[in-house]
Amino acid sequence: MSSQRNSAIELDNVGQSFESHQQQINLFKDVQFLIEQGQSYAITGPSGSGKSSLLMLASGLEQPTTGQVRHVNQGQYQAISSLRAEIGFIFQQFHLLAELSALNNVALPLKLRGDKHALSTAKQWLEHVGLGHRLDHKPSQLSGGEQQRIAIARALVFKPKFIFADEPTGNLDAKSATGIAELLFKCCSDNGAALVLVTHSQKLAARAQHQLNFEQGNCVWLKNEKRSEGHE
Ligand SMILES: Nc1ncnc2c1ncn2[C@@H]1O[C@H](COP(=O)(O)OP(=O)(O)OP(=O)(O)O)[C@@H](O)[C@H]1O
Ligand SMILES: [Mg+2]
Repeated sequence: MSSQRNSAIELDNVGQSFESHQQQINLFKDVQFLIEQGQSYAITGPSGSGKSSLLMLASGLEQPTTGQVRHVNQGQYQAISSLRAEIGFIFQQFHLLAELSALNNVALPLKLRGDKHALSTAKQWLEHVGLGHRLDHKPSQLSGGEQQRIAIARALVFKPKFIFADEPTGNLDAKSATGIAELLFKCCSDNGAALVLVTHSQKLAARAQHQLNFEQGNCVWLKNEKRSEGHE
C-alpha cells in the first residue's frame, strides 16, 4: 500500500460567506466533512444553496471564511496545497482551453507531468467518453454535452486520488449520463480515489456511499455522516 493510500481531506467547522453589493450572503457554516480515498460522496440541494462553493473549498481552490480545510496524510495534517497534483476537478462550466483541440485539452495534465505517452493516453480517454471521433475539434465546435465529456476525460486522465465533479451529467442524455456515472464510480473503486460529486439527480446521488444535502442554510447528512475524526 502506498503512503498516499490513506490520504483524506478534512473540512473542520468550515463556513463560507460573501460580501457583495453591500449585502452579506451567509452560505453555510460549521460544516464537518471527511473526504476519504475510496469513498464516494454526493452533495445535493437547491440551486444557489452553495454546492459549487463547497466543492471549491474542499478541493483547495478557494479559502473558507471560517474553519479549516486540510490534507490528512497518515494521521498528520498538511496544507491542502500538498494535494494539488492529486486533484481532478470537473467544473460546472467546463473551463476547457478554447485554443486547444479536444485531444490536447485532455493531454494537457499529462504533458504538464512530462508523460511521453500523453497523446495516446488522452486519445484512449476520449474514446472512453465516446468522443474518439472528435479529437481535433476545438471546444467551440462541440456541443455542451461533448464539452462536458472532454472536461471529464481531462479530470480523470492522470488518475487523480481525489475527484471533484460539479454536475458531471448535467448536460447529458440519459444513456451518456449512465456511462459517465459508471466511469466516475469505476475510477473511485479501481484507483481507490475519493469521488465528491454535486448533482441534482437523486438517482446519481443514491449511488454514492454518503450524501450531504443543503437545506435552507444547513448542511444535513442524509446518509452515512462523515465527520472529522480529530487527527493530529
Ligand atoms: N464570489 C462570490 N461572491 C458573491 N457571491 C457569491 C460568490 N460565489 C458564489 N456566490 C453566491 O453564493 C450562492 C451559492 O452559489 P453556488 O454556486 O455555490 O450555488 P450552487 O448550489 O452550486 O447552485 P447551482 O445548483 O445553481 O449550481 C449564489 O447565490 C451565488 O451568487
Ligand atoms: Mg453549482
